[in-house]
Formats: sequence, structure tokens, C-alpha cells
Amino acid sequence: MQIGESNHRTKGLLRLTMACNERCAFCNVPVEDFRPATPPDHVLEAELAPFLDGQTQTLTISGGEPTLLRKRLLALVRRAREGGVRFVELQTNAILIDAAYAADLAEAGVTSAFVSLLSHDPAHHDALTEVEGSHVRCVRGIRALHDAGIRVTLNPVTTRQTQHLLPAYMDFVGTELAFVRLVSLSAVQPHGRARGHLERLLPDYDVLAEHTRVARGVAEAHGIEVVNPYCGLPLCVGWTDGQSHSVEAAESVGRAQAKAHGIRNDGNKRHQGPCYRCALRTRCGGAWHAYWDHRDGAGLRAVEPHDPPFLAPVVSDHVQTLWCDGPLTSAELPATRDTATLWARATSLQPGIGPVLFASAVTDLALVGDDLAPHAWLPTLKAIAHVSRRNRELPPQQRLRVHVGLSLRNRPTAVQLLGLLRLFERTGAFQVVLLDLRVGAEELGPFLQSQVPGLRVKLGVNTGKQGNRGSRVVR
Ligand SMILES: C[S@@+](CC[C@H](N)C(=O)[O-])C[C@H]1O[C@@H](n2cnc3c(N)ncnc32)[C@H](O)[C@@H]1O
Ligand code: SF4
Repeated sequence: MQIGESNHRTKGLLRLTMACNERCAFCNVPVEDFRPATPPDHVLEAELAPFLDGQTQTLTISGGEPTLLRKRLLALVRRAREGGVRFVELQTNAILIDAAYAADLAEAGVTSAFVSLLSHDPAHHDALTEVEGSHVRCVRGIRALHDAGIRVTLNPVTTRQTQHLLPAYMDFVGTELAFVRLVSLSAVQPHGRARGHLERLLPDYDVLAEHTRVARGVAEAHGIEVVNPYCGLPLCVGWTDGQSHSVEAAESVGRAQAKAHGIRNDGNKRHQGPCYRCALRTRCGGAWHAYWDHRDGAGLRAVEPHDPPFLAPVVSDHVQTLWCDGPLTSAELPATRDTATLWARATSLQPGIGPVLFASAVTDLALVGDDLAPHAWLPTLKAIAHVSRRNRELPPQQRLRVHVGLSLRNRPTAVQLLGLLRLFERTGAFQVVLLDLRVGAEELGPFLQSQVPGLRVKLGVNTGKQGNRGSRVVR
């Protein structure tokens, strides 16, 4: 993903009207959720202002269906281009666009179009839009846009009914619409109208993973670039080897995040179950809340699953471990990130290290200790609190996670242990793993967990004699 209008980071959205001439059952911004359907002129003018000021963003004009308001749309495009906006992208279902309309759009200054060709199969496309003949008209619109000199990107929204057709879709584009160079591979986001049809529409990731891999191969053979947008798929669903073309992965390489005007992407997805042991959780936002709730996360699988390296380093394609036998100091922290997951394993954190740690390439901390006196943990707790405050501004994949391994070999009392767990909960540590647990003391886990609901408490298995350091984490 490169510059200008091809770069999601520099895109911002303006919705001209929420009215639409299709009735897609999956629509995430249905007209019935908006009043008024069309914002008055002064509101649009205010929304346009940041694009004119910044002059760096692509202005994406969407809706509803923006081509319904031909005069206003053309005027808006002209105003943006005259105001210095270099790229104007039109999001459209294209069914109103003929040669004359396409020529007007090009003349006004539209530089690209993002078109919802939902399926290569007319019956599926028309069933999804609930407009008979919409496939024929959409394909006609795509050709007209291209003939007018407007670059076209296609956006199929994969549903449960069309998930097996993805490879055939790419083949259709490569042969029938060979001028198209870019396909954004969306899959139904379970929001808006889609919420009412989850069973029918929400794809099954278990099935979709393989079709996605094959479709990407077909696209490559046709020379079509495929991107995995925010409304696309988790990395383990056919995109493990496609991080450079996945929006969330590309955005997660550094912790700084550019926010585009009019686009709010946070809070819709979460990590769960397999994500906690996944080497790519730092590059993937996980799955939609509704996917976990409705499909129980089917098809989501940790990539290079592993546990915190309390006792031995973890090294794999996507994981590295920075191993310290003592405290972690700022001198040891690398700034550039070569792998998705970089663990720093240490016994504690140097006082004041919080800001440097947060700005470093470390993605996960594994802190291990057997002294349960709170004062022994004080500088470490302060640094964890700093990291947690900064984490709150970020989506889950960009957060620095703190895992603590507490060895119980010195037989602390439950009160001592609980006191320390409460401190870790308050400062925002992600999880505490109890190591070297006495045989028969397993019931301690659920009890402690009930006392600190904001912290994950896990038990490590004691694999040897008392004091043996060879524990491993179980889930
Ligand atoms: C809301 S539409 C508005 C523009 C225009 N009417 C169209 O159909 O392209 C903007 C984009 O969102 C996509 N979209 C709508 N609902 C979606 C959903 N539930 N999941 C993923 N993409 C969706 C559409 O396919 C379209 O590319
Ligand atoms: S973080 Fe979760 S959803 Fe994403 S690739 Fe890993 S297991 Fe899959």
C-alpha cells in the first residue's frame, strides 16, 4: 500500500447523503439509522474544511449513495479540487453511472472510484442489493468510469452465501474487467442492518480462510493487487502471509496512529481465546464482537501459539525474546521492530523506565519474581501504570501487554498474594501466572480470579520438586 488515495492512512470520509437506491441487507450505515438523511449545506461545508486546510488527505465521498444527488456531488468535488484536495474518491454502487455521468465526474475532478461489485454472479449480487438488474448496471458503471479515466477499485463484501465464490470473483475481474488493478476484500461487518441477519450474512471464517488464500493466488496470477481493509479479515483467516497488504497490520508497526477525518474504527473488535497466545496479536485487531458472540470465534487460530517466556526464551518466525536475568533497563531497549512480537523478559523494571519502554519496540513484558512484598515491586508497578495509561489511547493490537509470573515457592499467605494481585489489577497488568504452586492448591486460582476480575489469573503447572523453575503455563 503506497501513497495518496491508495493509502488508507491519508483517507478521510464525507457522507453526502444517507439516502440510497439499493437495499443491501448487510448495509452497515442504513438510511433508517440517520436523521436527516441528507445533511444541510452548512454541515457539509464544515466537514469539508479540514480537507481543504490539510491538503494531504484523500477525500472519500460516500453515503448512502452519493450519485443520487448529481448536482450537489459535482459541486462538492469541484469545490474540493479547487480548494487543493489532490485526490477525490467516490464510493458508489455505480448503478446510476453511464458514459455521460462518468464524464461529468471526471471533469469535476474525481480521481478514483471504490465500487461495490458484490459478486461476479448476477443472481447473488442482485439478491444482496435487493435490486433486480443491479449487477448489469454496476458492471456498466464500472466500465464507464474506467473509460472516463477514473481508476476503479472493487469492493466485494463477502457474505456466508458468497464466501465459496471468491476465487471465481477474482477470475471474473481478471478476465472481464482486466483494467481493474486493486480489489479490497471486505467481509460483512456485523453492524447496522447486518445485525438483523447475522446467521445468513456473517461469513464462516473456518470456511473462508481457504477460499481467501486461493482467491489471493488467483488475483496474483491476474496481476491484481488485493488488500485486507479494516472491514476485512483477521490475519489468521487467509492473511497470515499478507501483512503488508493488511490495514491493521500496516498501522500497527509503530504505536503512533494517524486518525483520518470522518472514520472511527476503534472499539468494534476484540481479542479473545486464541489471540492471547498468538504471535500476530500485535498486528491484528482480532474479530468483531459479534463474531465471538455469534460464531464463538470459529476458524480463528493463534499463529505460532506460545506462552510468556518466564522460564525460557521464545523464538520463532514472528517472535523474539529479549532476555534479562535481572531488571530491564532503558539501555537494553531496541527502537525498531523486526518481528511482530518482541518479548522483554526480566525480574523487574528500572525506576522511571515507563515512557522509554512504551516508545520502544517491545510488545510484551514477561516479569518474573518470587518476592511478594509490595515495596519490592514499587518501581515496576509505577512503570506498568504508565504503560497502561498510554495503552488506553490505542486499539488492542498496539498495546504493550504486561504478563507477570509470580513464583509461590516461598509459600506466601493468601492475604499477601491477594494484596499484590490487587496492585497489579489496579495498575493495569494484563495477566498474572502463578508458578511453583503447591500440589493440591489449584482451587486457589478460581478464588483469586473472583477477587480480581480486572486481571487474568492463570496457574502454572509445577513440573518438578519444590523450587523447581521448570514450570509451564497452562490454559
Ligand atoms: C455504505 S456504502 C456507501 C457507498 C455506496 N452506496 C456503495 O454501495 O458503495 C460504503 C461501502 O461500505 C461497504 N459496506 C456496507 N456495509 C458493509 C458491511 N456490513 N460490511 C462491510 N462493508 C460494508 C459497501 O460495500 C461500500 O463499499
Ligand atoms: S490475533 Fe486472534 S484473530 Fe488475529 S491472527 Fe491472531 S488468533 Fe487470529
